[in-house]
Amino acid sequence: MSRFLITSALPYINGIKHLGTLAGSMLPADVYARFQRSRGRETLYICATDEHGTPTELAAAEKGQDPATFCAEQHRIQHDLGRRFGLSWDHFGRSSSPQNHRLTQRFAQQLWEAGFLEERVTQQVYSVVDKRFLPDRYVIGTCPHCGYEAARGDQCENCTRVLDPADLIKPRSAVSGSTEIEIRGSKHLFLRQSLFSAKLRAWIEGKRDRWPLLVTSIALKWLDEGLQDRGITRDLEWGVPVNAFEWGPNPDGATPAIEGLAGKVFYVWFDAPIEYIAATWEWADAKAVESGTYVSVESPPAEMKYGDFMGALGVQNSEWQRWWQLPSAADVTYVEFMGKDNVPFHTVGFPTTVMGVNEGIVAESGGHAPTWKLVDELKGFNWLDYYGGRFSTSQNRGVFMDQALELLAPDYWRWWITANTPETSDASFVWEQFQAQVNADLADVLGNFVNRILKFTETRFDGAVPAGGADSPLEERLHKDVLAKLRELTDHLEGREFRKATTALRQLWVLGNGYLTEAAPWTALKTDPDRAAVAVRTGLNLVALFAKVSEPFIPFTCEIIAGSVGESFPGRWPDLTGEGVLSILEAGRKVAAPEVLFRKVEDSQVAEWRERFGGPES
Ligand code: MF3
Ligand code: ZN
Repeated sequence: MSRFLITSALPYINGIKHLGTLAGSMLPADVYARFQRSRGRETLYICATDEHGTPTELAAAEKGQDPATFCAEQHRIQHDLGRRFGLSWDHFGRSSSPQNHRLTQRFAQQLWEAGFLEERVTQQVYSVVDKRFLPDRYVIGTCPHCGYEAARGDQCENCTRVLDPADLIKPRSAVSGSTEIEIRGSKHLFLRQSLFSAKLRAWIEGKRDRWPLLVTSIALKWLDEGLQDRGITRDLEWGVPVNAFEWGPNPDGATPAIEGLAGKVFYVWFDAPIEYIAATWEWADAKAVESGTYVSVESPPAEMKYGDFMGALGVQNSEWQRWWQLPSAADVTYVEFMGKDNVPFHTVGFPTTVMGVNEGIVAESGGHAPTWKLVDELKGFNWLDYYGGRFSTSQNRGVFMDQALELLAPDYWRWWITANTPETSDASFVWEQFQAQVNADLADVLGNFVNRILKFTETRFDGAVPAGGADSPLEERLHKDVLAKLRELTDHLEGREFRKATTALRQLWVLGNGYLTEAAPWTALKTDPDRAAVAVRTGLNLVALFAKVSEPFIPFTCEIIAGSVGESFPGRWPDLTGEGVLSILEAGRKVAAPEVLFRKVEDSQVAEWRERFGGPES
């Protein structure tokens, strides 16, 4: 049986994420992870904050903090919000962790040794006053094409022309505004991606049947345009240092291969995906700490050989390698979730790193040493917009995770977002549509069903699952319909088709309501108590079933529903061979109606929220 390794794109550290970020990576990954766990598959869902890069340095400076303090604080905030949304991460790591430093440096070194890195001198903008090199978009000046005075060095926002900072008239620093700007040469490492074009193409072609068209078409477009070698180092302070092999002196006496790059760090898009692996290492370390078997990565054993780095660490915490290194991870299905803007980095950038490292390993060992896994399934999403425009932090447009939780319980958001997952096209958040959908699906269909049957059981059956009676054709038909819907739901979830999955689940809930109306135990009670008992027992079993199969989507509510019929939480996904699907609860078991599960969203609330967050006019 397969194990599932699941990652969602790592959210940038700066700023609380909006619903679009949840929709385009973290939430579908969570639904999928919960589903696989409930099917009894060994599952690991890994995420982390993506902490390096210029925006982090600047955001920290703006708050008067150093980047390390800033990141620690923001990480805690994002971790907390994720938990409150029910994101069931096995580990929520940090790309600035010591594990990621080591792994990133190690990968770079292996790429260097295999000949896949090259040193090049590039001309870059240096700000004398800021005492730093400026990334293209932090150089501002007048556009040579249209005369717009606040054009950025990478692109003019006004005429959309792609620029080079050197094109700008009267260039100045976006950090300080200083015009004391020079072009200086700076040495950098380039990843020779162009060597991997054919390999990448063959690999992606092989995924055409499995990956969404959105994903393979973006990837192939990149390859068609011709792969450029890519700079993987930057002149920044905050990041993984290029030249410091921090695991200590090399007892072999050899010098680290990468030299002359002191003071530089790896490019954020080089180290961030490596953090998928490093975060798994963090997870294993955290478990080892808990069980008292941890050996610090800060102090590797003295006898450790330079080249034994992985092996030596593997002895300590081999748990994480079991998920990532072949052959031990041969039974792992690795599934990535991300927005479409991330697809090139995950189909070209990161795979090049992994392929390059692996080629080096194979060449050196004759194919015997463990190699690293590539992604198996890649689910990419379109955008979730706010009224047809982008969510925007700077313009305070749209709903952010902390605000969403102030307004409503997480399951309202989880349900609406999953039901509107931007799979085949962009989707748009509109308050009125949100209100209509959550009121209909959650309050009128699911909430009403659970309450109706449980209240009735309390008042007429002493709050216990009734015995007696035998199934009629009505129950037999229900059983068949439920099984068919369950299979649909299961298939859609296996196929990571989230919109379709929510449709199937909604139809399952509707079947419950339809059954109760038809079986009408309140009427039967007067004429045929056995019939009433069957209907109530069947209804209660539906409640128990709903708690199990709705859990990936609305876990908080399902915990309450499961509790109301005395079931443990989270439950196991039903066995689809059919027999036990509607015989979960034994006669006599005590049940109790929960508080109202979903209050309806009122018109007055929608009016207020639209005002507060901006509606179509904003
Ligand atoms: N931080 C990036 C974004 O939000 C995603 C990084 S994903 C990973 O677009 F590959 F770096 F992990
Ligand atoms: Zn312009």
